[in-house]
Amino acid sequence: MPISYNPETRIFKLDTENSTYALQINQGGYLVHLYYGKKLPTDQGLERLSFRGVYDSLSPQSPYVDDPYFSLDIAPLEYPCGGAGDMRIAALSVRGEEGNAVTDLHYESHRLLKGKPGLLGLPASFAQEDEAETLEIQLVDKVTGLHAYLLYTVFVGYEAIARSARLENKGESPAWLERAYSACLDLPSMDFDCVHLHGRWAKENTATRHPLHHGQQGIQSKRGMTGPNHNPFMALAGPACTEDAGEAYGLSLIYSGNFAIDIEVDERGCTRALTGINPAEFRWHLAPGESFTAPEAVLVYSDTGLGGMSRAFHKFYLDRLMRSQWAKKKRPLLINSWEAAYFDFDDEKLVDFARAAKDLGIELLVMDDGWFGDRHDDFRALGDWQVNEQKLKGGLKSLIDRVNALGVKFGIWYEPEMINPDSGLYRAHPDWAVCAPGRGKSLSRHQCVLDMTREDVRDNIFQQMYDVISQNNIEYIKWDCNRHISEAATLSLPPQRQGEFFHRYVLGVYDLMDRITTAFPHILLENCSSGGARFDPGMLYYSPQIWASDNTDPIERLTIQFGASLCYPAASLGAHVSACPRTDIHTRAAVALWGTFGYELDPYKLTEEEKEAVKAQAAAYHKYYDLTHYGDLYRLTLPTENPFLCDWMFVSPDKSQALYTRVIMRRPGVVYQVAKLRGLDPDRLYRDEDSGEVYSGAILMHAGLDLSAKRWEDLADGTCVVKHFTAL
Ligand code: DGJ
Repeated sequence: MPISYNPETRIFKLDTENSTYALQINQGGYLVHLYYGKKLPTDQGLERLSFRGVYDSLSPQSPYVDDPYFSLDIAPLEYPCGGAGDMRIAALSVRGEEGNAVTDLHYESHRLLKGKPGLLGLPASFAQEDEAETLEIQLVDKVTGLHAYLLYTVFVGYEAIARSARLENKGESPAWLERAYSACLDLPSMDFDCVHLHGRWAKENTATRHPLHHGQQGIQSKRGMTGPNHNPFMALAGPACTEDAGEAYGLSLIYSGNFAIDIEVDERGCTRALTGINPAEFRWHLAPGESFTAPEAVLVYSDTGLGGMSRAFHKFYLDRLMRSQWAKKKRPLLINSWEAAYFDFDDEKLVDFARAAKDLGIELLVMDDGWFGDRHDDFRALGDWQVNEQKLKGGLKSLIDRVNALGVKFGIWYEPEMINPDSGLYRAHPDWAVCAPGRGKSLSRHQCVLDMTREDVRDNIFQQMYDVISQNNIEYIKWDCNRHISEAATLSLPPQRQGEFFHRYVLGVYDLMDRITTAFPHILLENCSSGGARFDPGMLYYSPQIWASDNTDPIERLTIQFGASLCYPAASLGAHVSACPRTDIHTRAAVALWGTFGYELDPYKLTEEEKEAVKAQAAAYHKYYDLTHYGDLYRLTLPTENPFLCDWMFVSPDKSQALYTRVIMRRPGVVYQVAKLRGLDPDRLYRDEDSGEVYSGAILMHAGLDLSAKRWEDLADGTCVVKHFTAL
């Protein structure tokens, strides 16, 4: 069993194949963290780790533990509370009716469940009864009557541990949650680098790595959505941790709104990491009998470096989070109209695109923004989800019939959470746009945010979408979201509940996505948010792919894709070949092949030579589909570390195939180049399908593949090498 309990020591031991997570109920009923790291065969001796460091007379002694040297302030804790002696960042802070926020949780009971319970209204990982085991620990705060249920799930065959918390007010008076994190990890050292993803529009998910320092540090969003600025992912990498070796702890939050990943290094050099809903702008009123569920956090421990950590996240998210049937079903090769036409299209142009695309081997046409209301530009019509029949003459059904008759599937764009002041919906319901009473409405891309906390708003948008989708043969939807939330407030909640707005907004979005994907399970849903501004695991639950960035320049895409891959599988990374002139079409395709792959250009503007290249790329998409979607990713040379070139490879799970790609970003000074491959079977022979040369896996990994330039042009800026290896 992956979870065991020792009643004598009161230690819980959670085992994945390669790691152990251990916690203990101490004599005061506190839940203390003992260990997270490489797998341990037994829990013998672990109890000695229940209390860290040297007692400091400034740290309050707990009245519940019969040990003058014990203080919550220096204990490693599983779900630390504010106000009862622990001065570090708390996971939970509850303000009771008496007005103080002292919170003190003690063990009450626990139980083991088969499988993995769902989280009410929230996306979460899933597993059948025989695929996972869940430990639920009940803790109680006597004064407020608040009960906390901590959930830990261990999955058979995966390195991930899922955590979350449910809080129930079983007292007689109301309470206010001022923070309710999903997970806390108290590590016994500060000897870590913090690896995380920062960015902005068109430069999302850029990886950065820096050492921890004493004090607080962290990343967050207060934008109402995840945002491109920080991603809800962080790794703590040991000092010797590289791509291939050393210890790394990965933290990822399955959430799409205001999040925080907080780190505090205390005076003893111990590290506390927490993640969950950002407590800034959060205050949840919990009336007697009510409960609150925190989103799920996923922890991964790796002793095979950041690469091992990433591959563990990829496998877990692909199998245990993406619930769409398209997670594992072959997705059609698509072309999107946005960069080809922007708002300037009609039915004829789209049918022409479909015809040209079909000749090139493309299988699905996506009609992006501009098909509804009087949407001729981005100033108007969001909220009016009726087909513009002046643009699409004969209506949507006729257009789709014509596209389908060419043998091409059809997809459509929506931005369901938004409303333009210049729209029929706004004129009918101006109060549906988010705004605080008495304040002006800030616009962003000329639009406001719809109040998704309201059921009537969601019902309206659902019905409008349902009417179009149910009457037309739509097989793909791009769900966009192009602004963040200001003047946050809702008319649907009383003043004491306004602090719930941001989380209720996210729950509303999840509800709408759930209704759409449940009503139309056959639809391939792709998320998008001004590019990759909502690239998070919460969205992956509903949509197996997310547009990674509006930046389709293949060289700039490299940092975006390398960064996103720290946590997210290639099968989720929306990547298209566009008309970007920076490199030829081969390199654009080699980079897009890392992701979902598709096109975003006017097929009529391709040269004859480029058309032949696209046909070959369409064939390559199918040939390498399993390898790039389900294979193991190895990042070899990182663009953030080498200014000249980067390379990466995919290896099939049975190690019988590999696809290696190198891109020259800037012509390097060094011309003799050997690429040391990874992830192969050292004892097998591999044939380079291009040259026919045969190498042993050991030679390719240890001696390396000679990629020296025979001609100077082969090292020109923006050139690439793609090599397919097959085991004999
Ligand atoms: C932002 C997206 O990132 C683009 O791909 C495109 O869909 C536009 N919105 C349309 O307005």
